[in-house]
Amino acid sequence: MAKVITIAQQKGGAGKTSLAAHLAAYWASNNKGIPKNGAISEDPKQRTITLVDLDPQGSLSTWYETREERGVDNDSLVLRKGAGWKVNAEIQTAQKNSDLIIIDSPPHSETSTRIGIRHADIVVVPLQLSPMDIWATRATMDLIKKERRPVLMVFNRVPARGRLATDLKDRLENEDLPIARSTLGNRTAYASSLMTGKGVTETEPSSLAATEIRDLAKEVLKRIR
Ligand SMILES: Nc1ncnc2c1ncn2[C@@H]1O[C@H](COP(=O)(O)OP(=O)(O)O)[C@@H](O)[C@H]1O
Ligand SMILES: [Mg+2]
Repeated sequence: MAKVITIAQQKGGAGKTSLAAHLAAYWASNNKGIPKNGAISEDPKQRTITLVDLDPQGSLSTWYETREERGVDNDSLVLRKGAGWKVNAEIQTAQKNSDLIIIDSPPHSETSTRIGIRHADIVVVPLQLSPMDIWATRATMDLIKKERRPVLMVFNRVPARGRLATDLKDRLENEDLPIARSTLGNRTAYASSLMTGKGVTETEPSSLAATEIRDLAKEVLKRIR
């Protein structure tokens, strides 16, 4: 059975779709940091990663289609779309045919988000370090708690320096919430690579952004191994 990584966060613009695409692009083409326990094929050519786009806005699907149009090697990546209860069947089929499933959810706690969370081996919750984003995260965390799924919060668009960011991060850590060691900076590379249907690890492999994605990818896999 494929491991399922669900990216959820009620707040729009938190970075769900970006995270889904960059992680997928990395895992579709890379060998490093893949646990050698047979859960995920070591050879990227043998690996199948299914992207499930639950957001009716379809930005992850558009990224995927851009990738195909531009002829980026897409053999390891499969896309499925869906909404509502149909999603259950989509995910179950994908579980039989993939190594990994990455689910991108819509910005509201709809039925499909709940189902995405229910299937998750880990729920990744991106959030920006602003009070509004932290408040909005509560509803998502409640939903995850109800479904009793493991969660990993990831700070996104972290400014290079700033007291507010440090204060908020300290406060959340004190609340004993599972926060990823890896954080993602506020970097234009994240958006520009997606425009071309790629991920930063493909377009700018030696950039800081790519390092951040590789670190996070390893951290996520470690938690579901
Ligand atoms: N780390 C980052 N640095 C710079 N821009 C980012 C970063 N993460 C996301 N963005 C930008 O923020 C916007 C919202 O991101 P998106 O992934 O669509 O969020 P969501 O799917 O949660 O609504 C997009 O324009 C995206 O390019
Ligand atoms: Mg999105």
